[in-house]
Amino acid sequence: MATRYAPASRTQNYKYAIRNIVVEAKKIEAQGKKVTYLNIGDPVLYGFQPPQELIEANVKALRDGHSSYSPSAGIAAAREAVAEEAKRRNIRATPDDVIFTYGASEAADIVFAAVLEPGDEVLVPSPGYPLYSALAMKIGAKEVKYRQNPKNDWQPDIDELQSLVTPRTKLLVIINPNNPTGALYSKETLAAMLDVARRNGLIVIADEVYHKLIYDGVHAPMASLAGDDLPVVTLESLSKNYLAPGWRLGWMTVTNSQAMPDVMGAIRKLADARLCAPMSPQHAVPVAMNLPKSYLDATMARLRAQRDVTYDMLNRIEGFSCNKPQGAFYAMAQVDLRDGELGTDEEFVLGLLREKGVLFVHGSGFGTNPKDGFFRIVFLPDVETLKDVYHRVADFAANFFEGKLSLAK
Ligand SMILES: Cc1ncc(COP(=O)(O)O)c(C=O)c1O
Repeated sequence: MATRYAPASRTQNYKYAIRNIVVEAKKIEAQGKKVTYLNIGDPVLYGFQPPQELIEANVKALRDGHSSYSPSAGIAAAREAVAEEAKRRNIRATPDDVIFTYGASEAADIVFAAVLEPGDEVLVPSPGYPLYSALAMKIGAKEVKYRQNPKNDWQPDIDELQSLVTPRTKLLVIINPNNPTGALYSKETLAAMLDVARRNGLIVIADEVYHKLIYDGVHAPMASLAGDDLPVVTLESLSKNYLAPGWRLGWMTVTNSQAMPDVMGAIRKLADARLCAPMSPQHAVPVAMNLPKSYLDATMARLRAQRDVTYDMLNRIEGFSCNKPQGAFYAMAQVDLRDGELGTDEEFVLGLLREKGVLFVHGSGFGTNPKDGFFRIVFLPDVETLKDVYHRVADFAANFFEGKLSLAK
């Protein structure tokens, strides 16, 4: 008998591969096998901690009695500190253009809800972080994927981007540096993307939650290139740049908000209706915005070594390749599945999990073709753990390519 308690149809295709795949890992663990998780980008799970100064400011806020709701946009001191840091990074914004949210995730949710009607279109990078697909689906909007080319260091193709714009396109999302590829976009690429947005009247969402975690090259803030007319909503948070994902504090900084007063009004209404972001971590924001650059030195030295071992070891395995990530803590590697003849990317990931207890996420969870054999590696574990993981991958690969192992269950 059909249940009368039916979920809304908009949830039917709602997928979040990064967490969904854990169900499979738990089954393997239930059989008594150890699993090494390289699926989720949470630095704290791998021994990183937020800077001590931030922990103290957060705890002090609680001790000082700051357990009330905050103003919907966030406390003034935090908004001022963010606006000042934005200015240092050549981003035009006043404290009024800053709105604190429940992680960068909620900032994206609010902007999507404020701008998109059902049937409207949003340009999202592919591969890209699945949050944006999920948000579009929730609203009944359509995500239109623009490709990042693995043969060109995962850079987007501007002509393709322009060709995807229709009268229903409202938003252009960029993720820089990118999750899952670790690619950093050049200033020229960003400027060309802004031109597409300007020509077509799109609002730009610049997801820059990893902008301080850069190995090679320089991060150019999208909003610093926006001139004085194009609205760019920059998303940041304490989650990655400050290693505090569980505090759930993020914010949007709206550059050229004067160009879209009605949208700003809608954003504020939505922010009001959900009351506010977590209060006590907001008191850590002025401290965060004024930390010396060196606060990340040890973190970056460790991450760089982990990135290098990932790149070196994977490229040495027959049938595998991997681009060199320039930022964040992800690598998008590829196994040669002979155009799908040997299986799909998900089957590969599950096969590796079953045989070797290593958990990656299949590329198709981020938008690549299952036949292409991409998979995302979170290189947060220490070098010794990673070396052991890549030895296990090499072992698996040898059997797999010799035909001693098939991906079928
Ligand atoms: C590209 C990207 N944007 C946003 C988020 C979510 O960030 P937050 O914890 O600030 O909600 C993540 C988390 O992994 C991410 O990778």
